[in-house]
Amino acid sequence: MYLCLCKGITESEVREAGQAGIVMPCQLKAKFGLKDPGCCGRCSKNIQEFAQIAMSVHQTPSPNSVRS
Ligand code: FES
Repeated sequence: MYLCLCKGITESEVREAGQAGIVMPCQLKAKFGLKDPGCCGRCSKNIQEFAQIAMSVHQTPSPNSVRS
């Protein structure tokens, strides 16, 4: 799924960035050039969604989900 149509950034690219330790909104904006001229800025408004996806690669399953 595309998160940014102007740059063609996909969800999996954002996950890869997260695996590389790029999880903060400002880091993601810089990595994907979301402040560059020519970008519409729509995805910048959804940068929290980028951050959530990037961080999701670091989340471990909840202890409650472990069977006893
Ligand atoms: S949709 Fe990402 S800059 Fe336009």
